[in-house]
Amino acid sequence: MDTKSLDDRFAFASTLVEEAGALAHGYFKNRDTLVIKSKGLQDMASQADMATEVLIRDALRKRFPGDGFLGEETGRDGLGSADCLWVVDPIDGTQPFVHGLTSWCVSIGLLVGARIEMGFVFAPARAELFVGRRGHPATLNGVPIRVADADSLTQGMLGVGYSPRVPTSQYIPFFERILAEGGIHYRDGSGALGLCYVAAGRLIGYVEPQINSWDCLGALAVIQSAGGQFNDFLANDGLWTGNPIAASGPKLLPKLMALLEPVS
Ligand code: IPD
Ligand code: CA
Ligand code: CA
Repeated sequence: MDTKSLDDRFAFASTLVEEAGALAHGYFKNRDTLVIKSKGLQDMASQADMATEVLIRDALRKRFPGDGFLGEETGRDGLGSADCLWVVDPIDGTQPFVHGLTSWCVSIGLLVGARIEMGFVFAPARAELFVGRRGHPATLNGVPIRVADADSLTQGMLGVGYSPRVPTSQYIPFFERILAEGGIHYRDGSGALGLCYVAAGRLIGYVEPQINSWDCLGALAVIQSAGGQFNDFLANDGLWTGNPIAASGPKLLPKLMALLEPVS
């Protein structure tokens, strides 16, 4: 894809993520009136999630009709032979959102072929916009950011995500390994923000045994632009069915990947 086509998408999505964030933030301020529906154990959504995703999907469809779309709430749209695929979580951190915490965001990522090209993660209630684009520095509110240089779990806080999608029996050894290495875990209910905090050097890394592509694609673009690395998330159909994620600066990554090894 040529630079002009990428520039157009970058400019459009930069504005779109803020528009979508403003819509979601309006719902957040009036969340007492939201109708929350359960999608499963500890998995919820409200009309805020759906309305925000529809805004993003329809805007992208109108501006770039040949592009594909994958969203958490509405699924796949217009994939065909599309080279470009937008991967969207309208509200990541639904639990914090519905309970009045500010750790939620809108996440938009763009895949071109198998390459993570750009990502936009906006946390309206914290006024923080993380942006990454391949070959360009990552930014937080326009200011360049960089991953931490840690090589040990003792050098900062590790973002840890988990969900009922993985059996409890798998988490106990996972946490034991973190504690055994002197690690401290951090979790605020949004995988996308946890990953962006790695990009900003606030957390030394992020690990989660199973995460979906809409949760992390936008933030992975930010991490790669911030000098970070991550496991091969898209391997084995990760785009459609999710995968484990480990992300950090280059020195720590092998240790994070070892934390995710299955217990024998
Ligand atoms: C969840 C959050 C959570 C992560 C889960 C996700 P949602 O997404 O990112 O932090 O641990 O894997 O499913 O439900 O808030 O959009
Ligand atoms: Ca999510
Ligand atoms: Ca979501």
